[in-house]
Amino acid sequence: MLENLYSMNGKICVVTGGSSGLGSYMARGFLEAGAARVYISARSEDKLKAKAVELSALADGECIAIPGDLSAIEGIQVLANTLKENENHIDVLVNNAGVGTGGPFADMKPEVWDMTMGLNLRSPVFVTQALLDLLKANATHEDPARVIFTSSVAASENNVRVMAYATSKNTVEKMTPLLALALCDDHILVNTIAPEAFYSEMTRDIWEDPDSDRFKALLERIPVHRFGGLEDMAGVAVMLCSRAGSYFTGEVLNLDGGHRLTFS
Ligand SMILES: NC(=O)c1ccc[n+]([C@@H]2O[C@H](COP(=O)([O-])OP(=O)(O)OC[C@H]3O[C@@H](n4cnc5c(N)ncnc54)[C@H](OP(=O)(O)O)[C@@H]3O)[C@@H](O)[C@H]2O)c1
Repeated sequence: MLENLYSMNGKICVVTGGSSGLGSYMARGFLEAGAARVYISARSEDKLKAKAVELSALADGECIAIPGDLSAIEGIQVLANTLKENENHIDVLVNNAGVGTGGPFADMKPEVWDMTMGLNLRSPVFVTQALLDLLKANATHEDPARVIFTSSVAASENNVRVMAYATSKNTVEKMTPLLALALCDDHILVNTIAPEAFYSEMTRDIWEDPDSDRFKALLERIPVHRFGGLEDMAGVAVMLCSRAGSYFTGEVLNLDGGHRLTFS
């Protein structure tokens, strides 16, 4: 039973922001769990294609690059059109591409606010809408399709230095049960993963010097005293998108080493 519970045998998956960090961890998890094809998307074409080659070599399934800027509706349409040309359905969509922004409120620029909301909030909404027909196509009561959003523990923390970022992620979390209810009758389950600090490009300036006071202070604040990595993210993503997770919908899973428990 256990083998089937966590199997993604034959599944067709799409992971935005799949060229590095959390998206690449989830894409790898899906492939190693048996997915037939995992499409990854990001802007930097060379990096994306290199990651697709790297991940394809690790499993029987294929990782396929679809380059594009998902902050623009045109980029979302290119992704949707390419998928429709190649697949008659998809089983899993992970809306993971995101940008981290921060700084004092007094210095906040409208274009940075718009860019943060555009990629972290508007993009996942309209990527999901653009791929809705593909998600519905093979989804059944017994084997529903899955949509995953990537939020952040910042959504729950009152850190004034990341106001736009935290607001964008908090709204993704508010939207999660709404979209879950809206799509339940189409047999599409919608859940969100809210990570704390993970090794990725976004956090490189914190972890690349493990002796820095900043890195040590962050580890001190996280109850399990470590960053998250490949297995932490791949494990939860595979659970949510396999038979094991098929009774979850509208949930926000805090993948944070207990960090939110320390918020007063
Ligand atoms: N790392 C953490 O500790 C952490 C914690 C909480 C939440 N998160 C969330 O996790 C998600 C992934 O972040 P990460 O940490 O893995 O960062 P990352 O390593 O920088 O990866 C970001 C990915 O998104 C892609 N991307 C960025 N802008 C894009 C755009 N306009 N269109 C399409 N793709 C775009 C990037 O590729 P290109 O630059 O080539 O486009 C890359 O593939 C984000 O939503 C982030 O907010 C991360």
